[in-house]
Amino acid sequence: MSAPVRKAVIPAAGLGTRFLPFSKAVPKEMLPVVDRPVIQYVVEEAVSAGIEDILIITSRHKKVMEDHFDRHTELEAALEGKGKTAESDIVRDLANLADIHFVRQGEALGLGHAIGTARNHIGDEPFVVLLGDDIMTAPVLKGMVDTYANHGSSTVALMEVPMENISSYGCAAAQAIEGEDRVVKVTELVEKPSMEEAPSNLAVMGRYLFTPAIFEEIANTKPGVGGEIQITDAMASLMTKQDMLGFTFSEGRYDTGKKSDYLRAMIDFTLAREDLGPEFRELLVETVKREGLV
Ligand code: G1P
Repeated sequence: MSAPVRKAVIPAAGLGTRFLPFSKAVPKEMLPVVDRPVIQYVVEEAVSAGIEDILIITSRHKKVMEDHFDRHTELEAALEGKGKTAESDIVRDLANLADIHFVRQGEALGLGHAIGTARNHIGDEPFVVLLGDDIMTAPVLKGMVDTYANHGSSTVALMEVPMENISSYGCAAAQAIEGEDRVVKVTELVEKPSMEEAPSNLAVMGRYLFTPAIFEEIANTKPGVGGEIQITDAMASLMTKQDMLGFTFSEGRYDTGKKSDYLRAMIDFTLAREDLGPEFRELLVETVKREGLV
């Protein structure tokens, strides 16, 4: 029986260059999808996969993320004073979602380096990593935690993408495992390969589960693509010593750091809301008709 997975790391220290000018002063992880910031969806996903302790990797320009998960006693009191107890509960409950900690990545040296800053906090336990601007509606993280309970190996989320997009992702080659449907054995990993060099169209998608052995590999990883310390390179090195599994899925991921995917998230999440969905649906239908879109 493998050790339980209790801790998560959420790297959220990136500069957000794809979302300028918004992300100049406000972290891209604080973009609202309906009325919640992206990072809240990510934290809630971790909690629903059984995670109790979350370390968010942040930077000096991103203090508002800490405020979002803190108590705000003046606001709570003001809301209660007006009889708005439901709203007050929403504000207070955010501070009780999980045991949430923050550490700063002083320099933007890459995703691998960001995850490496969690070493002391994680200690000698398996842990998950959720990229702070990816929202997942599919139960991928939970599936990965369950896979770890059976196999005890590091696992990465994988999704097929059109071959012409593979150079935007970490790319994996994988073999089927007998008796497994969604779980595969990863045989090769390469960060952002060209279409010609890519071993497959299976892309790494923002969710990872690592044994603590990853930290030693990160410490020994030299800067790779883009001059950054890449987690994919550290994983490729770990793979030579321990099994690396892939957990495959095909839908339910929103890369909210990309404008078009952010807008898709806004549409899908608004439509799914009981309070806003019906009215928004009418608005969409009207817009489609007016613009002659179909
Ligand atoms: C990062 C990882 C990459 C992964 C991608 C999507 O890249 O380095 O391997 O495929 O996230 O999860 P980024 O999008 O930060 O450039």
